[in-house]
Amino acid sequence: MTTTQTELRLAKRMSRLGTETAFEVLVRARALERQGRHIIHLEIGEPDMDTPANVVEAGVKALREGYTHYGPAAGLPELREAIAAEVATSRGINVSPDEVVVVPGGKPIIFFSLLALAEKGDEVVYPNPGFPIYESMINFVGAKPVPIPLREERDFRLDVDELASLITDRTRLIILNSPQNPTGGVVTRSDVEDIAAAIGDRDIMVLSDEIYSRLLFEGEPYSIASIPGFKDRTIILTGFSKTYSMTGWRLGYGVMRSDLAAQFARLATNSTSCTATFTQIAGVEAVRGDQSEPEKMRQEFQRRRDVFVSGINQIKGFSCRMPKGAFYTFPNIKQTHWPSKKLADALLEETGVAGLSGTAFGSFGEGYMRFSTANSIANLQEALDRIDQWTKKHL
Ligand SMILES: Cc1ncc(COP(=O)(O)O)c(C=O)c1O
Repeated sequence: MTTTQTELRLAKRMSRLGTETAFEVLVRARALERQGRHIIHLEIGEPDMDTPANVVEAGVKALREGYTHYGPAAGLPELREAIAAEVATSRGINVSPDEVVVVPGGKPIIFFSLLALAEKGDEVVYPNPGFPIYESMINFVGAKPVPIPLREERDFRLDVDELASLITDRTRLIILNSPQNPTGGVVTRSDVEDIAAAIGDRDIMVLSDEIYSRLLFEGEPYSIASIPGFKDRTIILTGFSKTYSMTGWRLGYGVMRSDLAAQFARLATNSTSCTATFTQIAGVEAVRGDQSEPEKMRQEFQRRRDVFVSGINQIKGFSCRMPKGAFYTFPNIKQTHWPSKKLADALLEETGVAGLSGTAFGSFGEGYMRFSTANSIANLQEALDRIDQWTKKHL
């Protein structure tokens, strides 16, 4: 960073903003690569497959056809229609296009939900360990973070009685995420029904982060929005990043009551103006076109999960539950007797395996590490060998 003479006076709120450690570990891993080290990247949460060819073609064609200008803040009508039809079918609810807001990735839906709904003094319940942007944004808007611990002994499904005990008159928003980042945990249909019963008819909104809902290895996804009386109190967050391997395209969306959607569109007008229009045309092809590629990806992630979990369970000090969704494994490392962050750093520096400390996902992540399985089986096996060698030397 270049130095300047004048002191940078930041707004106070900037001190409350968190981060996503995966990107920082990626930077360190890339620096090691520049020194000639061979790194196996199990830190970042993105599919390693190419975006399906039909989607790429649609995007390129859209560029040639002049989709290079501003579009409506809430998204192109054709994409909002395609998404409304898909979400209606998959969740068994009525969805109209004016209940869909298209944004650059899933993340802005988290940002907009907190900006639009929570203020100082409001309480927001969210999973811990969980996607770090929830806690970051809750703090940023000045609301009170109320973590709900996810425990290994429950296969990282939240405990509904515990959730019920955390709901107060100040609870404004409850964030759910299934399949879950970082644990791969999945709530069952009856869990979702129990969560709905715990919320009852209170005026609480639910942000249901369903970005991994197509990466489920058993059963069917079930959204709280499908429960009678909950659609109007739910913001479904999902998108294209994980399902269609489109992380760099920046395309995601929220589904919510239309009056709230109009408010999200105002936030879009004030921040991004709109999502890239050619990207949205590619999104129409992703939703309406052939679905065999995402299904192939899902099966491939299942194969990799099986290889990695069985391998890591052979390694001294590590034990890992079988994740039921997403492309993450979250092994318990307590028997290594190393703190998570120190272990993650040592594995990166000494073996070239980049993983994340469980604490990157909140304080309840201590004693765990997250390894993404978005890498080839050969690389996963190589990573397992390196970790095994390391533990033989150090434990
Ligand atoms: C749980 C969860 N929600 C939202 C996102 C954001 O996805 P996007 O890259 O589309 O912004 C991620 C990305 O890692 C995630 O893991």
